Amino acid sequence: MDKDRIPAHIAIIMDGNGRWAKQRGLPRLAGHNAGMKAMIEIVRRASDLGVKHLTVYAFSTENWKRSAQEISGLFRLLIRYVRTELKELMRNNVRLMILGDLSALPDDAVAAVNRAVSDTAGNTGMQFNIALNYGGRDEIVRAVNLLAGEVRDGRIEPGQITDEMISERLYTGARETGCGDPELIIRTSGEQRLSNFLLWQCAYSEFVFTDVYWPDFTPEEFEKAIGEFQSRDRRYGGRK
Ligand code: IPE
Ligand code: IPE
Ligand code: MG
Repeated sequence: MDKDRIPAHIAIIMDGNGRWAKQRGLPRLAGHNAGMKAMIEIVRRASDLGVKHLTVYAFSTENWKRSAQEISGLFRLLIRYVRTELKELMRNNVRLMILGDLSALPDDAVAAVNRAVSDTAGNTGMQFNIALNYGGRDEIVRAVNLLAGEVRDGRIEPGQITDEMISERLYTGARETGCGDPELIIRTSGEQRLSNFLLWQCAYSEFVFTDVYWPDFTPEEFEKAIGEFQSRDRRYGGRK
């Protein structure tokens, strides 16, 4: 890995917590707990490497299909994460942001997350985006509805909608905290699909898939994935 060519925006589909736990005869929540620890290590390493935006997929719009017990366990873990890691985020000058629709989350989770977002709002180092109740299609539908409203109000002419106008209305396109498209998307656990993650933004992302379950994904694995990214030839449809 070349420390001088670190991608500005790296996104990760943290997958395999359940299988990691099953392999050890543990409940799924033990896997999520171990996954949270892995995430803490990756946030630290990404920040040390000078990554500008790190985005992790923590809960999809489809994850509501899981048992009530698993879902509430995941939100309890999230609350614990933002409470216990706030100091570390402050120390490392990391700004926390959320991508997704928080309105459907339990009140205590929303309060804990919003507090960490506002407490870290002045930090100028890495921006750490947690995709929570996030769906790529949901995000695009939201942008389309916003645009439709603006057309109705006469602020935009029909037929004048551009690529940029759509990008700006996605969760990743916010004026101040927008992170744009990820150069690199990593998925752990051997699955090779997007599962509704960053559908618009991934147009020219490089994908790195690893068989490692998320709780076993170490900072060394992370650097290996960046090294793999650096070996790719990115052409964007053009020619060398
Ligand atoms: C990823 O691990 C975490 C979430 C989706 C919340 P999984 O819980 O999907 O783990 P597997 O895929 O069942 O192993
Ligand atoms: C994607 O993983 C969502 C997150 C990692 C949060 P899933 O485990 O939910 O995806 P599928 O069901 O295998 O596609
Ligand atoms: Mg999974």
